[in-house]
Amino acid sequence: MNSTIQNQLNHRSIRKFKDIPLTPDQINLLVDVARHTSTSSFMQSYSILSITDPEKKAKVAQIGNQNYIAECGHLFIMLADQHRNQLIAEEQDTDTEVLGSFDRFFVAATDAILAAQNIMIAAEAMGLGAVFLGSILNQVDQLIEIFNLPEHVVPVLGIAIGHPDQAPQLKPRLPRDIMHFENTYPKLENVCEALKDYDAIVHEYYDLRDANNRVDAFTTQIAKGMTRKHPGRMQLLKFYQGQGFIKY
Ligand SMILES: Cc1cc2nc3c(=O)[nH]c(=O)nc-3n(C[C@H](O)[C@H](O)[C@H](O)COP(=O)(O)O)c2cc1C
Repeated sequence: MNSTIQNQLNHRSIRKFKDIPLTPDQINLLVDVARHTSTSSFMQSYSILSITDPEKKAKVAQIGNQNYIAECGHLFIMLADQHRNQLIAEEQDTDTEVLGSFDRFFVAATDAILAAQNIMIAAEAMGLGAVFLGSILNQVDQLIEIFNLPEHVVPVLGIAIGHPDQAPQLKPRLPRDIMHFENTYPKLENVCEALKDYDAIVHEYYDLRDANNRVDAFTTQIAKGMTRKHPGRMQLLKFYQGQGFIKY
């Protein structure tokens, strides 16, 4: 088995880290891997923030309500960023109204998120562990202020990286036949019934975040998740629009 694929099949999020910061070489290597990610129309419309100020890191941990954010060896925040390209165009007297389109937001967010996954793969290949942090989006307005984000720059995903101090079980995934289709999207029926075996497997999964309880079956988690409406997350569109994105 190819070692890259072996690593990818072994992926697990790490949420407990040893108190060892990443070295500048490790950080630079991860940023270099991100820089070589495919990028829509060669626009490179994303940037990466390294949060090294302990106070700012603690603030992000508070926003995400996850202490492992404060305790990781390095914290990246991936930014959808059309600011640099806006300036490049304006310096050449070119109109930049198109940056308000959903499309230009979406390609920037896609660039940032693909680069994030490349960082994850590289970190794991380096013997490090990591977890993505959607939780940073709980208060995007605060992140914009803390990090002084200009127009056409928004956070899309955090990555907490470090030396693993836990060995979680591999988290079971949906069976192939319910998520990989050929040529046409099938009519899905009785999905919960079709996922009965998978539900039983997920229920057996040992989640280190709540070691005293078995996790809910997958279908139960999905239904419960539909009722979660974090007030900050419900305003995400408004905050992104406030930065000049998604006007049309
Ligand atoms: C976009 C995205 C956002 C995520 N946000 C968080 C988060 O805020 N906190 C967290 O602990 N895990 C987060 N995760 C990790 C997922 O919970 C994890 O990938 C999933 O449960 C599967 O587990 P595994 O990565 O160990 O296979 C996120 C993952 C993705 C892709």
